[in-house]
Amino acid sequence: MKKGDILDLEITSAGMEGEGVARADGMVVFVPLCMQGEKVRVTVKEVNKKFARATVIKVLEASKDRIAPLCPIFYRCGCCDMQHIAYEKQLAIKKANVEACLYKALGRRVDVGDVLGDGKIFGYRNKIQVPLTRVGGKVVAGYFRGNTHKVVPFGEKVREDLGACVMYERGMQDMLDAFLKYANEAGLDCYDEEKHSGFLRHFVARRVGDKYAVTIVANGKKLPLEKKLIKELIDTGMEFSLYFDSNTKKTNVIMSDDIRTVYGEARLDAEICGVHAKVSPLSFMQINDGVRDMIYAAAADAIAKCGVRAVIDAYSGAGVLTNVLAKSADEVYGIEIVKDAVADADELTASCGNADKVRNICGDCAKELPALASRLRGEGKAFSVVLDPPRKGCDRKVLDAILSSMPDAVIYISCNPATLARDLAVLDGNYDIVSVDPYDMFPQTKHVETLVLLSRKNREKRD
Ligand SMILES: C[S@@+](CC[C@H](N)C(=O)[O-])C[C@H]1O[C@@H](n2cnc3c(N)ncnc32)[C@H](O)[C@@H]1O
Repeated sequence: MKKGDILDLEITSAGMEGEGVARADGMVVFVPLCMQGEKVRVTVKEVNKKFARATVIKVLEASKDRIAPLCPIFYRCGCCDMQHIAYEKQLAIKKANVEACLYKALGRRVDVGDVLGDGKIFGYRNKIQVPLTRVGGKVVAGYFRGNTHKVVPFGEKVREDLGACVMYERGMQDMLDAFLKYANEAGLDCYDEEKHSGFLRHFVARRVGDKYAVTIVANGKKLPLEKKLIKELIDTGMEFSLYFDSNTKKTNVIMSDDIRTVYGEARLDAEICGVHAKVSPLSFMQINDGVRDMIYAAAADAIAKCGVRAVIDAYSGAGVLTNVLAKSADEVYGIEIVKDAVADADELTASCGNADKVRNICGDCAKELPALASRLRGEGKAFSVVLDPPRKGCDRKVLDAILSSMPDAVIYISCNPATLARDLAVLDGNYDIVSVDPYDMFPQTKHVETLVLLSRKNREKRD
């Protein structure tokens, strides 16, 4: 097999990236945008020692689960991976991926629940973050085409309640349209990454409750004609705050911390699982409100049921879950490495009236969790641990600290089934897997969030 070959393949399984997998010439061939059971004609794009990658030229025999994508530019855009797959089948693929990862890492079958969601399969994103570019003399927004820095402009709107990108809802589109009108009438130019010149970089907006936090990110110090933009946004009839983020660095990082409020409040109020949070444009928040709330509620419920009154919330972000957990505990410790997030968490803790029972620790979990766990164990305190790491999973030192301090329960929230499975294999001999529940936090994409409850083996015999 060589690059450029045209082959007819039968797709025999689904890969971890939502793609189809075939075999040819003793090689595994990964083919995005097709499904198990399909026959496809492909062009080979890349050949490695053990695997190859190919793209579909034509679907010769379609699966019964193939559907027409809602988004007219789905096949070009590269933002979602699964719009061509019937939703129920998307869920089945995600569940099978979690099962396969656990099987591979643990060497045995583990019961995995059906993938849970809140039924909102389009328009679920509470945040839009899009690069701006000029096409035909006009400022437009879109996403970078997969693995490139070339912007694919959004297509026409296909549903009244949704934006031009069907992942977010109409209100966000109204904000974006108002901004684009302003940018074009003001004659603003767009940033060119290669030349590191030009002004407008990104349009970022987040829905918080029923208000919008709109941030214009630009390579400059001042937003021209601010009043004009404010008027355009007011004309949408929606409540909003406007921020200007000056990002003059040659970097892929979208927002700098040089941000100022142009109009409205510096922080917007959000109610999350009974916790009243103040959200600033730079705070990390999960992007799907409904599913986030389901996961937080399930984690809090598990903590309440395990009956242990001290909890370590590792990888705690801006502290929302930490304060949700404080409802069912007497002592909660958040550990987070980003200083600003910890400052947000401190403020949130104070405003929730939890200062006497929540402590937000700024530091690396690899260092802070072992020290804290050993202190709690030394004091003879029963405690539980919640782990919510980034995609790369937990540092080995965190897992070793769990094995040496043996908390009663571990709740693992993961956005990457492969690293989740790897980490569970480390804890396996000492913990029972009580439940594995995947959640569809990101419908239409390959991503899946998973909540795992672990209970220390022979819990009643210890201590
Ligand atoms: C998936 S987010 C979870 C945040 C939070 N639990 C939530 O639900 O909003 C992972 C968090 O871990 C933090 N983080 C990454 N590496 C870390 C480390 N080594 N030690 C502590 N925190 C870390 C990130 O800054 C991020 O806030």
